[in-house]
Amino acid sequence: MTYKILIADKLGNAGLERLSQMSDVAYDLRTGLSKEALLEAIADYDAVIVRSDTFIDADVIAAGKRLKVIGRAGIGVDNIDVPAATAHGVMVMNTPHSNSVATAEQTFTLLLATSRRTVPAHNSLAAGQWERSRFVGTELYGKTLGIIGFGYIGRLVARRAQAFGMNVVAYDPYVPTETAIELEVELLPLDELLAASDLITLHAIVTPETKGIINAATIAQMKDGVIIVNVARGKLIDEQALAEALQSGKVAAAGLDVYQEEPPAGSPLIGLPNVIHTPHLGASTQEAQKNVGIEIVEQIAEALRGVAYRNVLNPLGG
Ligand code: MLT
Repeated sequence: MTYKILIADKLGNAGLERLSQMSDVAYDLRTGLSKEALLEAIADYDAVIVRSDTFIDADVIAAGKRLKVIGRAGIGVDNIDVPAATAHGVMVMNTPHSNSVATAEQTFTLLLATSRRTVPAHNSLAAGQWERSRFVGTELYGKTLGIIGFGYIGRLVARRAQAFGMNVVAYDPYVPTETAIELEVELLPLDELLAASDLITLHAIVTPETKGIINAATIAQMKDGVIIVNVARGKLIDEQALAEALQSGKVAAAGLDVYQEEPPAGSPLIGLPNVIHTPHLGASTQEAQKNVGIEIVEQIAEALRGVAYRNVLNPLGG
């Protein structure tokens, strides 16, 4: 029996090589398919692998007559209609840990770069200036870091923050107090975290509870001059409210890797002098891409063979 896998978004070579070594699997790498082309193609495959570019919606799932598994090479499944997959008995799986270190390190890139004003200082020097007194920054040492969303990545960020001598507090109603105590992190209600934090970093998924969690009302509860970093999902932030707070100086700076719309055409945040933005690069390290590629193809092959079902996000019952 040969299982057929469609790879609809770019996948690291290591993952493709691993697939080539599997005698019971054949794959096609077909990136950039239009919705029509995807609807036609999907009928031939037992599994499809995506990153974040291809949308696997209810129509695509319904057209996948032999589809058994949808694999997300990465964490967020915003581009997959998970309830529709569940309704059709199709597994959805991701690779929740393989790119977490990359994301935690990108968080620190932005925490440090916003605190030390690295990008404006670079631009000034590149433009021929030598403005040492203009770019006096602030230290992470001794500051309070508020982590919203204290899952795997939030905890990696906490550990790194502690190494910098930061005091770490977190908001996550789903994490037991004992876990936080073990990690020497104080769990706080959201309003207390907002009031206590010098820097705030987001590591939550988007749910009805977290969508727009950074908005005019929550920003008003923060310290003046707070720094906000988002390497999770753009929809956690009301962009207009954040842009106004950055313009007024209520928020001193923001480090943003993700946006409501990607690419962020028309976002009021793009180009503000106190914003450092990167184009959704949290997971974009060679190591992370190698790891997610290998992990997703192995998980899918195991599931198709009925050997193991790792990191399945939807309960299929029966
Ligand atoms: C993820 O959800 O894994 C990251 O945001 C990276 C990506 O979209 O590939």
